[in-house]
Amino acid sequence: MSVRKIIIDTDPGQDDAVAILLALGSPDEVEVLGITCVAGNVPLDLTTRNARMVCELAERRDIKVYAGCDRPLNRGLVTAEHVHGKTGLDGPNLPEPTMQVEDMHAVDFIIETLRKESEGTVTLVPIGPLTNIATAFRRAPEIVRNVREVVLMGGAYFEVGNITPASEFNIHVDPHAADTVFSSGVPIVVMPLDVTHKALVTRARNDAFRALGNRVGQAVAEMTDFFERYDREKYGSEGAPLHDPCTVAYLLRPALFSGRHVNVEIETQSELTMGMTVTDWWGVTDRTPNALFIGDLDADGFFDLLTERLARL
Ligand code: BDR
Ligand code: CA
Repeated sequence: MSVRKIIIDTDPGQDDAVAILLALGSPDEVEVLGITCVAGNVPLDLTTRNARMVCELAERRDIKVYAGCDRPLNRGLVTAEHVHGKTGLDGPNLPEPTMQVEDMHAVDFIIETLRKESEGTVTLVPIGPLTNIATAFRRAPEIVRNVREVVLMGGAYFEVGNITPASEFNIHVDPHAADTVFSSGVPIVVMPLDVTHKALVTRARNDAFRALGNRVGQAVAEMTDFFERYDREKYGSEGAPLHDPCTVAYLLRPALFSGRHVNVEIETQSELTMGMTVTDWWGVTDRTPNALFIGDLDADGFFDLLTERLARL
């Protein structure tokens, strides 16, 4: 398998942090060209701080971290401190980062990188609101053809919503950006709540992280210890859902996942259902499929892979 070039677009977030660590623990399969930060779970200054803390945790100060859009395209920013804590990365006691944020804006980095690379070679991995990606696509539409695939966390069909009754957080925060990406014609793989709610850190899985005996395993166990309380209280679930790492795991082991190639449209009009991912799972329209919408995963296989890769850091 050739090494896949990726850009991780993120709003860390404990589950974003684990996604970044999974990618950094898999250098034979993915090359992280850069990490672009966006406002989402917490404001941009904190997501940019947290991304650098995660790189330093993995001893990868060489990774380039860019700050991007500090608010959604057309709406006010909605954040999720109620899930992720005040810093967005509550749980482990990590040192403040000392590595620098790059001078270039994240959107310029995305555009420049895609212009430089050849057609269909760069995979975008957005695990926060889609503001940076949509801004890049709007500003330089010709870059879309150089994207190999967008593998994103966002949306829901059977699980419907987590931030409103009808919508998932990442899509709800910037529905207009999501609409731009979903209607761009780029190949898309979606990790919705339908699958990520099956990627649960049970007690045994958390113990396995801690038992790795490295700093990363300890920090990930502490992140999920913190992050799980929200979903336990809300859904009565067994532990924290690792939403965002599903994207990177898909790049490493697509066979762990299954889904359907269907049409997904984004609600941008109704305030009541703003950001809903209207997914034609049952094929009841003749709308053209635009995304592989994942519905299931082999959870044990996913956690085995994740634990093995965290052990390498
Ligand atoms: C998504 O929202 C954020 O809170 C998580 O990091 C994840 O990307 C789940 O709805
Ligand atoms: Ca996220």
